[in-house]
Amino acid sequence: MLLFLSLLSFSAPLGGDTSPISCYNDNGAAVDWFYMYKLPKEHDRKSPQQGENYLLLEKGSEGWTNGKAKVNDTTGALGRTVGQLYSQGKNTEVAYILYNDQRPPLDFGDRWVDNSGSRGGHTKGVVLLDKNQGFWLVHSTPQFPPVQKAGQYYYPSSGVINGQNFICVTYPLDRFQTIGEQLQINQPNVYDCNVPESLASLVPALAAVCEKKHLPGHILPHIKPVSNRSVTLTSKDGTDFISFAKGASFDNDLYHSWVAPTLQSDLLVQFWIRSPGTLPSDCSQGWKVLDITLINPGQAFTFQTSKDHSKWAVSPEATGSGARGGWVCVGDINRNKAEEKRGGGTVCLQDPVVWKAYRTAALQCQACGGGKIQC
Ligand SMILES: *[C@@H]1O[C@H](CO)[C@@H](O)[C@H](O)[C@H]1NC(C)=O
Ligand SMILES: *[C@@H]1O[C@H](CO)[C@@H](O)[C@H](O)[C@H]1NC(C)=O
Repeated sequence: MLLFLSLLSFSAPLGGDTSPISCYNDNGAAVDWFYMYKLPKEHDRKSPQQGENYLLLEKGSEGWTNGKAKVNDTTGALGRTVGQLYSQGKNTEVAYILYNDQRPPLDFGDRWVDNSGSRGGHTKGVVLLDKNQGFWLVHSTPQFPPVQKAGQYYYPSSGVINGQNFICVTYPLDRFQTIGEQLQINQPNVYDCNVPESLASLVPALAAVCEKKHLPGHILPHIKPVSNRSVTLTSKDGTDFISFAKGASFDNDLYHSWVAPTLQSDLLVQFWIRSPGTLPSDCSQGWKVLDITLINPGQAFTFQTSKDHSKWAVSPEATGSGARGGWVCVGDINRNKAEEKRGGGTVCLQDPVVWKAYRTAALQCQACGGGKIQC
């Protein structure tokens, strides 16, 4: 009986209300955080990839491990984590926000809407919490996840062909007000949300985001809306992440103008190289920010970044005596002209295992001034 009970407490929620709202891994265990790398579809005969395979790195692991499921399965880390939204039903004790500049269908027969040309945030994510804790998932997948009334988790075909990235962090309740404030700066396109009365007074910024009052001026009427803010967000089990959030008025490249000088680190950046007006590698003002051109995450297989829709950055050097390296940032902003004027951001962590996992993925970069070099 005892064994049975302890097994229960580690299993993923199946509609019951005993499991905490959390990031979950492939085995259904609650985890403090995970990174997921959804690999692109490849027509390489030697290692055919169907586009639904992924690599997972969770707190405590030694590097990337192959996903135990497909990204569309409800039994994988992403399905178990985001799936909590659908198993909640009309729970008046649970708050959620789904935002995406390329939203999924809102109803049966509805078409998805690409807002990527609009001035709203170029930003994608999921927030789900109750009065104790919850998670914030930041990702790169268009039309993901489905609205709650879709009734069940699935991964859209729009996210299959290209590589995609996900960072999930479990936070205690009091961090969600800060997360809400970061989202207010981002001005996200919220396509589905609910912040019930029982939670609205605890996380008013999230309630405001849900009401689409996304301009910070709404809570601070006499203060000029901030164009950017970075804050430390400590996870439930005590890992410090730094969230960088910018709004449209920031009007500059996130990585070169702000993240690199703040972290005091050069950066290698993976982003959607097929977006128009991409920014070349930039070595001005003391920081080298290089565009990655060829990658091999987890040494699974090598591909051009034109097949990868992920947006992440890694320090070229490990952290060490004197050197302030060892950073990994995963977010939703590309390096292109249009996105200088769009809301969005990135979530950074200085951790040797996560650093190695991303650093070894970057093979070839664009040199400042042109040409290709080993990263
Ligand atoms: C995902 O699974 C659903 C069934 O749950 C299926 O209808 C859909 O086609 C699948 N999508 C992909 C991209 O495999
Ligand atoms: C906003 O970004 C600038 C760099 O463009 C930085 O110097 C400043 O500290 C940031 N502001 C906040 C509040 O983080």
